[in-house]
Formats: sequence, C-alpha cells, structure tokens
Amino acid sequence: MSWKAKPALQQPNYPDPARLKSALEALSLLPPLVTWWEAETLKSQLAEAAQGKRFLLQGGDCAERFSDCDATRIANKLKILLQMSLVLTQGLNKPVTRMGRIAGQYAKPRTDDLETRNGVTLPAYRGDLVNRPEFTAADRTPDPSLLLRAYERAALTLNHIRALAQGGFADLHHPEYWDLDFVHHSPWKDDYQQLVHAIGEALRFMENILGVNPAALRTVEFFTCHEGLHLSYEAAQTRQVENGRWYNLSTHFPWIGVRTSDPEGAHTEYFRGIANPIGVKIGPSTTPETLARLLDTLHPDNEPGRLTLIHRCGAARIAGVLPPLIETVRASGKTVAWVADPMHGNTLTSTQGVKTRRFSDILSELEQAMDLHASLGSVLAGVHFELTGDNVTECTGGARGLSDEDLGIAYQSEVDPRLNYEQALEMSLRIARRITRRRYTEAHGEAK
Ligand code: PEP
Ligand code: CO
Repeated sequence: MSWKAKPALQQPNYPDPARLKSALEALSLLPPLVTWWEAETLKSQLAEAAQGKRFLLQGGDCAERFSDCDATRIANKLKILLQMSLVLTQGLNKPVTRMGRIAGQYAKPRTDDLETRNGVTLPAYRGDLVNRPEFTAADRTPDPSLLLRAYERAALTLNHIRALAQGGFADLHHPEYWDLDFVHHSPWKDDYQQLVHAIGEALRFMENILGVNPAALRTVEFFTCHEGLHLSYEAAQTRQVENGRWYNLSTHFPWIGVRTSDPEGAHTEYFRGIANPIGVKIGPSTTPETLARLLDTLHPDNEPGRLTLIHRCGAARIAGVLPPLIETVRASGKTVAWVADPMHGNTLTSTQGVKTRRFSDILSELEQAMDLHASLGSVLAGVHFELTGDNVTECTGGARGLSDEDLGIAYQSEVDPRLNYEQALEMSLRIARRITRRRYTEAHGEAK
C-alpha cells in the first residue's frame, strides 16, 4: 500500500468514495483469475526470450469492451494469435510465447481528464472499467460497480480462453480449425496454407518416424496481460501467496504505460511490490537517466524474466531513441526482455480526421527494431501489437492497400486503431520471412 503515498496519475475521480470502497472490498474477496505459478512459468519463458531462445508475441485490443466478451470475438482473437505464433515459430525457429491483451484490458490513460463537445464538458472516457463512452453525464461519471463488472467479464473471457486452449481447438493436427472465414480472401492465403501443410508434414514425421507422443501438441499455453493503470483495482486483486511474495493475480503480466512510468510515481511503487513478470513502456519521452532509475527500482535483483521493456518510439524516431536506451541497460549489467511495440509511436490522423496507423510505418519500425538490436549486440525478445481477429478497417495499407477513404467501412475502436486479421497475419509473415532470409544469408552467404 506504499504506493498510496505517491502521486498517482490517470486515476478516475469517483464522486462517491463509500461506493468505491465497498466495490474494492468485494473485489478483494473474490477468487484470483490466474495463479502465481502460471505467472512464474511466464517469467521463466520471458527469461528465455531475453536470451534469444524464445520469442514473445503480445497482442490484442487497445481497449477491450465489455461487449467483446462474446464467444466469436474471443475465439477470433485466440485464432489470430495462434496463427501468428505458428508463422513466427516456423520462421524464427524457436518457441513462441503467446500473450493476449485480453481478459482485463479495460482501463485507458487519457491525455485530458475532460472532454468538451458543443460547449458541454464531461469526464473523458477512461475505458469500460471506469465509465461509458456515450457522451452523457450519467455515462461519463466514474461508476465503481463497473470494477466488479470488469472482474466478471475478465473471468468469463479467461474461462472461455482456457477451455479453447485446452481442447481440440488449438490442436496442431487441425490447423484448419484456426482458419478465419476471410483467410480465403487474403492475398497471403497461399503462404499461410503452405506453412500449415509444412507443419502437418513435420508432425507426421515426428509421430510416425520419431515416435514422439503427440498429446502435448493438442493444447497450447496462453497468457494474459493488461496495463496496470487503475491502481486500487489492481491492488484489490493483489495477494500474498505461499512463497511469501505478493502477486497481482488479475493477470499474468501487468505493464506500466508510458504516461504513468515516472520512477517516483505511484505506479512504479505499486509494481515494485509485486513479483509478477512486468512490462514498462518506454519511448521518446524516456531519458536514459529515467530508465536507469526504473531499472534500480523495478529490477533490483536482476531476476531472470522479471522485467520486459516495451519500446514504442515511432518509425521516424526509433533510430535515434533506441540505441541510448539499449546502452543504458547494457551499462547497468542487467538483463531485460526487449519487446518492440510498433503501434503507439505511429498513430496519426487521417485526411478525414480519423485516428489511424499505416501498415508501412508499423512494419518499418519493426524492421528497424530488429536491425538495431542485432547491430548493437542486443536481443529483440518479442513484438507487441494492437490487433483484432475481426475484419475491421482501422489501420491503412497492407496487401489489400486500405486507404484513408476505407477507414469508415468498419471502424470499431473507441481508442487506438488495430491491425485487422489480414494485416496482422501479413505482419507475422513479413517478420518471419525477413528472419528466415537473414538466417539463410548468415549460413550460406547472399542468396543468388
Ligand atoms: C497502450 O498500450 O494502449 C498504450 C496506451 O500505450 P502507451 O502507454 O505505450 O502509450
Ligand atoms: Co493503444
């Protein structure tokens, strides 16, 4: 509770503190959503990723909506992450850890506390955890009962994910179950289907020739993450466990957003006290001095897998911003898992005034991230995307060449624009292809 003595940014102002207190008390009595040993498994996988022995695929909505707690949407998100991980596993030739921005990604930081429309000023929408997007005083007033609704939605979502991940849905023998309807229309359909075929052949080889037990290939591991923004909500689900340490058991991996990453702030103080594997978003506003203090506070013992740094610099700035940050970590002697978020530094406004991102900027930042880490002797341990398994039109570009004019067709996000299914799959194919090519060149010299 030491975080309460520090300045906490981005917290809602609840008009009725007594109702808030009773919602938080109720929350603190409910069972945890995840277990601490799952969080520890993830930590050990992130330790491997930090050493280049594994890769992290982290992705999902910018903000989940309560209405996203729907069987089809959940299955579609799981499918796109499974498909991308399959592509990456094959291309990178290493195991991939999947982590969804799901089952709890309900709170959003906002630049302004208030929003004015036609002379009326109301609190900004801060995510379904806090209030509702409709522009009325009743909808925008922070409502403590939503904290309990969020916990319940997260539990329902996670329950469905666990059922799907453990059943035949994720069975590698049947990757055809993972197809989304519109994979058939994708310009990348053939690449994907060839890959699925190659995996089928490899499985048959393992089982029939090598005699490997296939049971382990019928289930997949899947972890959850969300921004740990609303501190009293996160704290109400933080428990001391058998090993004597405290864990946030609402998710496997909470992260600190860039706006709340002040080393002296309440978020850093709260995260200091939990033993989960954690992330910190860093970017152009993060100085090497700030990063050094964050490393001292959040990663004092250099525990393997504890700290993931998620850099989100923007395609135009990464070449200047990232190298000094990599150097700061190197100078500290500590190991972190470096993850590239090519989304949040590349947000722009379309010609029609809509928030969007260009596929080419996202890909460019990723490619630069891969090259910068490689040239500085560092390891890119993973990637972080805002994506959805649905056929939205929020980012432009990709193989279908979505334009600014197309954004109106199916723009659903209340906050940041996400890659749609095809764009997300294409992104993973492009990364995999680049890495395969680099591996080939390193082994055999330039391809003819
Ligand atoms: C986010 O991940 O949705 C987000 C708000 O990111 P950042 O803190 O990097 O701006
Ligand atoms: Co976002």
